[in-house]
Amino acid sequence: MNPKYLVSIIKASVHARELWSLSFGFPTETITEGEVKVVVPKLAAYVKEVWEYAPSKAPVFYNPTMELNRDLAVLALQVYQKMLEREVSVCEPLTGCGLRGVRFAVEVEGVGRVSVNDINPKAAKLATFNAALNRVEDRVAVANEDANLFLSRYAAPRKRFNYVDVDPFGSPVPYLDAALRALRSGGLLALTATDMAPLCGVHPRACLRKYGGHPLRTEYCHELAVRLLVGCLAMMAAKHEIGVEVLFSHSVDHYVRAYATVKYGARVADKSVQQMGYILHCFSCFHRETSLGIISPLKHVCPECKAKLSVAGPLWLGKIADKNFCSLMEREAEGRSLRQEKRLLKMISLVQNEAEAPITYYTVDKICDKLNLPIPALKKVINKVRREGFQAAPTHFNSRGFKTDAQASVVREILTKLTA
Ligand SMILES: C[S@@+](CC[C@H](N)C(=O)[O-])C[C@H]1O[C@@H](n2cnc3c(N)ncnc32)[C@H](O)[C@@H]1O
Ligand SMILES: [Zn+2]
Repeated sequence: MNPKYLVSIIKASVHARELWSLSFGFPTETITEGEVKVVVPKLAAYVKEVWEYAPSKAPVFYNPTMELNRDLAVLALQVYQKMLEREVSVCEPLTGCGLRGVRFAVEVEGVGRVSVNDINPKAAKLATFNAALNRVEDRVAVANEDANLFLSRYAAPRKRFNYVDVDPFGSPVPYLDAALRALRSGGLLALTATDMAPLCGVHPRACLRKYGGHPLRTEYCHELAVRLLVGCLAMMAAKHEIGVEVLFSHSVDHYVRAYATVKYGARVADKSVQQMGYILHCFSCFHRETSLGIISPLKHVCPECKAKLSVAGPLWLGKIADKNFCSLMEREAEGRSLRQEKRLLKMISLVQNEAEAPITYYTVDKICDKLNLPIPALKKVINKVRREGFQAAPTHFNSRGFKTDAQASVVREILTKLTA
């Protein structure tokens, strides 16, 4: 049935909810998120036990806990559009119920064509309906095919998008190549990775296979996850003579996310490759250091305690956020009355503060645990480290973590003194 026609019938009906469920063939409900109202599967109907994960049991994917992810995407896209100062074309190749794509069309000024796609025909049908429900059916085009096939249709120079948002189940790597080819030079690519077990070192071989880098189960594994993801992107982009620059990234709940601009050119691609390297970590004394360059003579002995060093990488050692982009995102959040505004603003502000801080972070609990010390307040530790003449900043990666240029022995000493 024509979605426009369906919407008008539904709006006229007093039994709207029942009618919608009938029309899709599964239980649905209407929710609001940001400035849109969409029909989604009624998740409560798909879980029998409390521990069951409803989004993947429903006939169409919808995950309410990813609202913050979508809010940040709206802000990032708006900032990027304002930077470009022209209409932007947007692509979401794995859209589920269409919520993210519809939000871009409704909430982001200067968005022109929005092309969304999902391999699941029920998802494509729901996304078509949701576009019509929000009166953006003339700008939101819905397709129903494999994401790589779909993205490849836009690989020719004049067909490419300004923004591609890859938000899959698990790893975005299978879609990276096609997403890069579907982006214009200067375009923005957003990537979500939810496969935290490989990225955080629980399944290191899977990480090496997928991301081309070795992870480590350290206290700062979430930062390593972002750097492994961006590293994989940079190396994949380099094959196409594309360089990348990260504007924003974050880790929250069960996933990591990165926003990077891509630019064509052998020199910018070389510059990206030059930002690849390794992180060397000592599990015995918390020492860590970086080693720039993919082909680099790696040290094997900890300079602080002489224990064997472990290696993460190759991964991205460049910047994983841009201060200015963060502050523009903060400003863009004003007046939008997003449901998770407080949490979102806190996260952007932390990401901004740590944008130029040293790579990796220490967690107070982990060190105190190893040294058998009582755990002091993070603020106290940060102040003390600063008073000793070092940089120190909290990190959004871990509420008990801080970034500093002080070496591990200094951090251990400060914590010991502080808790004496
Ligand atoms: C995590 S969900 C997307 C959620 C959505 N981006 C959002 O923000 O609500 C992943 C979606 O990818 C779709 N999918 C899985 N494999 C696909 C493929 N090869 N091509 C296109 N879509 C695919 C699934 O049907 C599912 O709807
Ligand atoms: Zn050591």
